[in-house]
Amino acid sequence: MLKPRESIAALDPYRSPIASREGLSLDLNENLAGCSPRVLARLRTLRTADIARYPQREIGERLVANFLGVNPEAVLLTNGVDETLCLLFSTYLREGCELLFSDPTFVMYPIFGQAFGAELVRVPAGENFAFPAAEILSRISPRTQVIVIANPNNPTGTVAAPVDLLRIVKAAPDAAVLIYEAYFDFYGETVLEELPRHPNLFVARTFSKAYGLAGLRLGALIGPPEQIGFIRRFCSPFNVNAVALACLEESLADQDFVRDYVAQVKQGREQIARLCLELGLEHWPSSANFVLVRVGKNAGELVAAMQRRGIMIRDSSSSPGCQGCVRITVPARQQMNGVLDATRQALREIRS
Ligand SMILES: Cc1ncc(COP(=O)(O)O)c(C=O)c1O
Repeated sequence: MLKPRESIAALDPYRSPIASREGLSLDLNENLAGCSPRVLARLRTLRTADIARYPQREIGERLVANFLGVNPEAVLLTNGVDETLCLLFSTYLREGCELLFSDPTFVMYPIFGQAFGAELVRVPAGENFAFPAAEILSRISPRTQVIVIANPNNPTGTVAAPVDLLRIVKAAPDAAVLIYEAYFDFYGETVLEELPRHPNLFVARTFSKAYGLAGLRLGALIGPPEQIGFIRRFCSPFNVNAVALACLEESLADQDFVRDYVAQVKQGREQIARLCLELGLEHWPSSANFVLVRVGKNAGELVAAMQRRGIMIRDSSSSPGCQGCVRITVPARQQMNGVLDATRQALREIRS
């Protein structure tokens, strides 16, 4: 009988919340301001040959390298940033070695880690989800093969100081350390400039958040050219589609769009924080485009009450330390008042 690898069979089925999405989606941290109109204009110019021919990823890699100010050999474009996990883990994780990460964090880390047969070493976050730098340092062992850190973190929106990240990079010279900067634009701190000094440091970025291209699937892995070269050896040459590549130049060029959306998010985070104070809800200062809010035992009821009002938010109760919490993506400027009112009403309904 045909059997999958044991590590795959042991995984729980993953269900994307995308199944029933009607209304305003504040549950997946997408860009609620859409994407740059310059990207839409570029899409309208696509010709038959742009679709019928295989994509040329290298052109896009030069654009991204130029934008980031790094060597093109250091950049690998990927099918969303999720693919960087698959590529990096399959390059460095060996059966029985360790994948180290703090918890709670992005759900895909343990899924991919387990699939590749690694032992998962979860380090609980500190009080108020503080980044557990000292505990991570103390858990580095000769078996640590990959360390992955989302900065800012999801679902908490909290951050790790670059100095702590670099301490970890230096303490684990035989491990690949991947700093997942999916929400970089809403935070502004990066370890990208440190790349030339650390042969085991990788940074991952995505175009799904600040650039609003989640549907096109475009991410980037940036790391030491020699190591990126190993990953290129088995990465499909056509992993990034031609439409996404065609839009890249306009997307990068429209920094006004990115700046405006980031400003909307920063203002919106404050408005959600003020609403939480008004309603007596615990929440955590966020450096991303979402806010984690503790509702209590009726968090699920709030999710349902919001859905009845046409707004989807994410129940984060299953993440460690997040019992009774919901995660709310910051809406766009013109949606904000409606979301604030709906939240007030929904909370009144479940509390009465
Ligand atoms: C930390 C983190 N990484 C990656 C992603 C997904 O990025 P992409 O669409 O580029 O695969 C998300 C999306 O929510 C995320 O929160």
